Amino acid sequence: MSTLQQASGHSIDVERLRQQFPILSRTVRADQRLVYLDSGATSQKPLAVLDAEREYYLTSNAAVHRGAHQLAEEATEAYEGSRARIARFVGARAEQLVFTRNATESINLLAYAFSNTTDKARLGSPRPEGSDRLVLRPGDEILVTEMEHHANLVPWQEVCDKTGATLRWIGLTHDGRLDLSDLGTLVNERTRVVSFVHQSNLVGTINPVHEITQAARSVGAWVFLDACQSIPHMPVDVSTLGVDAVSWSGHKMLGPTGIGCLWATEELLFAMPPFISGGSMIETVTMERSTYADPPKRFEAGVPMVAQAVGLAAACDMLDDLGMDNVAAHDGDLTAYSLERMAELPAVRVVGPTSTHMRGSAISFVVDGVHPHDVGQVLDSRGIAVRVGHHCAWPACRALGVPATTRISPYVYNDRADIDAFIDALASVRDVFGVR
Ligand code: ALA
Repeated sequence: MSTLQQASGHSIDVERLRQQFPILSRTVRADQRLVYLDSGATSQKPLAVLDAEREYYLTSNAAVHRGAHQLAEEATEAYEGSRARIARFVGARAEQLVFTRNATESINLLAYAFSNTTDKARLGSPRPEGSDRLVLRPGDEILVTEMEHHANLVPWQEVCDKTGATLRWIGLTHDGRLDLSDLGTLVNERTRVVSFVHQSNLVGTINPVHEITQAARSVGAWVFLDACQSIPHMPVDVSTLGVDAVSWSGHKMLGPTGIGCLWATEELLFAMPPFISGGSMIETVTMERSTYADPPKRFEAGVPMVAQAVGLAAACDMLDDLGMDNVAAHDGDLTAYSLERMAELPAVRVVGPTSTHMRGSAISFVVDGVHPHDVGQVLDSRGIAVRVGHHCAWPACRALGVPATTRISPYVYNDRADIDAFIDALASVRDVFGVR
């Protein structure tokens, strides 16, 4: 049994868990204790993940799916074993999981499948069986939300530019939730794709997947979910969401950078042409033409990120040992406590949901009279690491009437003492700038 294993319903022993994260014991800015509240940008990595990667390089490093030697065999087993492990973490089968560089690349893989298929259809070039549903024409519509991270907006703008399809979006309410009042109009017989974020990276809102998915399904649209901020923080079973594809990153869930995931239904995976082409993703190659391997290999050209897959599998082990229900409860407690303590400061305004209902732990806020970047700087001078700016969600900031925000995003290794340290520093911000 792992040293971290906890039954569901047990709180996380943060002190014990922190021993897995040596970086959290370092000091910053003139010997202050590091209070890391920027896990929405990237999480810290536990020793178990670093050890798994190191062990792989020390013992089994080789190019997968190629060599005729023992190391190549071991590396392939490590890579494919990690795929199965990571798939299990989200309730999926290994064959449905494609490794990418990050969630941005996963979403681009989907978006390019539409524009590339549309090009091929126009030219009459060979394309996968079942790809007709990926051909877009002027008049077709792609629906996103105003809450999207740029990664789930810009690629679809590009698709529209290339195919003549029209981009539509679900707007926001003043408190940072999706305004679903005209969902029935926005989703219509022209809608071909609905792509939306599960949990907002800017304001933490958790969106009603079922309601949006049902509307999209009723008109036969593809449905894609950006789960970058949800999969690290709550139990997510991709097979029960009713969507066609889910994308997320490894580095926000205790895993390494350089690995992202795309889960998709077999119908979609087999219908999509490759995104990046070259070695490993082929079935046959002649000088004139090539045919492609079945998914997931079709989408993994070149020597892949084996060590990162091994590291991410170790991160899944750790999160499962903690229990994702416990992770969600821990996040929920820190969110409630943060919101309660922030409400004690009259000059601080939370941007987005102010209750814990359907929201995650990313909390954006502004301080009256002080620019969000300056707030971040004062917090940093006190050892508190937060993110500032538009958080790659510029349209959402605009819709909510703020040019930028300061954001905290706690995770499993944070506790209430971290929030207290943040609140103490936040309470001093206006004094530092002499704002009355
Ligand atoms: N998407 C990451 C964030 O929200 C980088 O900070």
